Order: sequence, then C-alpha cells, then structure tokens
Amino acid sequence: MDAVDVVRGLVAWVGHATIWLVLLNLLYSQPIHKRWLRTLRLIDAVIVFSFPGVWLGGVWSDGLNLPIIRAYLWVCWGVACLAIPTATLLRLTRRTPREQIRRTSQIVDYAKELGYRPVGSWKNAYLARLPGNEVFEVEFVRIDLALAGLPEAWDGLTILHLTDLHFCGTPEKVFFERVFDHCIHDGTPDIVVVTGDLVDTDEHHEWIVPLFRRLRWREAAFAILGNHDYWQQRDAVRSCLAEAGLRVLGNCWDSVEIRGHRLIVGGHEGPWFDPPPEDSHHSSEDFRLGLSHTPDNINWARKNGIRLLFCGHNHGGQIRLPLFGSLFVPSRYSRRYDAGLFDCRPTLMYVGRGLSGREPLRYRCRPEVTRFCLRVKHDSER
Ligand SMILES: [Fe+2]
Repeated sequence: MDAVDVVRGLVAWVGHATIWLVLLNLLYSQPIHKRWLRTLRLIDAVIVFSFPGVWLGGVWSDGLNLPIIRAYLWVCWGVACLAIPTATLLRLTRRTPREQIRRTSQIVDYAKELGYRPVGSWKNAYLARLPGNEVFEVEFVRIDLALAGLPEAWDGLTILHLTDLHFCGTPEKVFFERVFDHCIHDGTPDIVVVTGDLVDTDEHHEWIVPLFRRLRWREAAFAILGNHDYWQQRDAVRSCLAEAGLRVLGNCWDSVEIRGHRLIVGGHEGPWFDPPPEDSHHSSEDFRLGLSHTPDNINWARKNGIRLLFCGHNHGGQIRLPLFGSLFVPSRYSRRYDAGLFDCRPTLMYVGRGLSGREPLRYRCRPEVTRFCLRVKHDSER
C-alpha cells in the first residue's frame, strides 16, 4: 500500500462517514422509539469506524476491484470531493433574510456567576464537566424583524422564544431559575413561545410550574411538546404547562386578540404526536404564528400561510466544527435547518439552539434564548 492508497482511503472514509451520518440524521427525524434509535446509532458507528479496516483488507486482498465495491467507493469520493465542499460553501454564503434588521446578543456564563459548575445529578452529568464545554454559557439573543403586513398597532411587539429545556437534573434547577430571571430582567415580553422538549425524565415535569411562574408576559404564552416529552409523562407535562398559565397547542390552532387585532397561532407536534393539525380555516387577513418542535414541518407552515414559525429540536448540532459547522442534526433536511433564521417564503422560520439537551455537551454551540421585536415594514422600505 502506498501513500496514494492512504489518501484515497481517507477521502473515501470522509464520504462514507457523511453518507451514514446523513442516514442517521434521517432516522432521528422519524418517530422511532429512543431505545431503537440508540441501537441504530451504535450500528451506524460500527459501520463508520470499521471502514479503515475494511479498506486495508480490500487493498491487500484486491477486493476493492469488485464492481459493487468500486461503485460505492466512487459515490464516497463524490460525496467527499463534491457534495461536502458545495454544501459547506452554500452554508457559508447563505444570506441572512432581509427581514432581520438587527441582531445583538449577550453571553452569560452561569458557572462563573454561581461560582461553581451546576452539573447536577443526571446520568450524563459527567459530560457537563468536560473542559471547554459551553453548556452553562447562555447566549441571550435579540433579533429585530421588519415584517410587511404587520398591524401598525403591533410595531414593537416582543416575542420570547424558549425551546429544548430538557429538565432532567443537569443543569441544576438553579441554572434555569437564573435564566428565567434574566429573561424578565430584559423586560416583560408580550408573547412567550415554547417549542417543546421540556423534560427527559418522569419526575422533572415538577420543575415546570415553579420555573415558568418566574416568567411573565403581557398578552399570552403558547407551548407545544417535543419528542422527548412524548416518551415521558406527556399528560403531566401538558397539565403543568397549563397550570403555569401557558396555552398548550397539541396539534391545533388558537387565537388571541392583541391591541385590537387577531393573532392566529398554530402548534405542530408531529411526527411524534398524531394526527397532525388540520389546515387553518381562519381568515387569511389575520397574522399567523406557528410553533413546531422540528423544522421538518416547514411545508405545513408555508401551506397554512404562517408568517413566523418557531422551532427547536436540532440544538444547532450541539458540536459545531470551524467552517464546516454542525454534524449530527436529527432532521430529514440534515444540517440545512440546524439553527438560525431561514427565509422559506411566505414563512420566516427561526430554529433555536435550545437551552439544554439529554447529552449536556456543547462546543461552538452555546445554549440560547431569543427575544424577537417585530417592526412594521412600510411599502417605501421594500
Ligand atoms: Fe431537544
């Protein structure tokens, strides 16, 4: 085996790993039980990491010349040399939607503020101790959006978006108390939206009422559940959210009168909760917000004329490499909608990175809370 064989093998391995990572992302976007997903993840890892051994065996036995192996290797080289650079270039040059007129943020390191790392008691708490882990460094983002068709009376309306809280014991409750207090310290929002994955155990729904009662809002608060809630005491999660004063939209529509105008809000908890929401029969004149745990429901939002869709689920990938970005993103679109604001006309979709995760592990992908300020976009500004 010479140096050329080594390089060809390494490039093919990159392509092979990418193909199987995309397949894993696709599997994780489906309503498959977490036990099966863990098994599938293990099988996937074995397939990815056994490649060098198979390659070496193939080189020595001349097995790489079998037509089917040859064809698969060409696919791997194509993915590594064409698909990955193209996708990376497209991601790096993606333009921010023009509705975003301002973005500012502030990072609060709660380990520093508390004087210790609130790693807590969850079985994966050891991950929170790893050096450089940003799991306690919350980025409080503020985004101003100029929207055409927004009622004049709503100019300056604020929406606080929380997602993927994953209450499980890590981080400790005090971390969330500080985060919720900070949200209010920045001013009372008009609307609060919560896009699922509140718990990861059958006990931690008990944190919902005391924590959400620390929040305040002027008009209304809406919540939906995510896939992690689906596998726990989901009815208890819903009743705790309701007890804390939030309107829980389980695959349905709701409306609220704000400053003399009607706001329509739709919640989509699919594909985990069935059946998906029916199409909206509200007047198309009314402004529509959407909550969906996964951005995979973007076409439902577009079809139903939702102007602003809030999502979570992807956690931004949790680990993001320089230039390349995220790797593991549990979406049928893989990394395409990993985090941020996306122009999917007529819908503007925001995918939050979330506050926590079942695996408390974050590198170059801090936990996030986002506050939006809506501005009226006048005809002269178009
Ligand atoms: Fe989540």
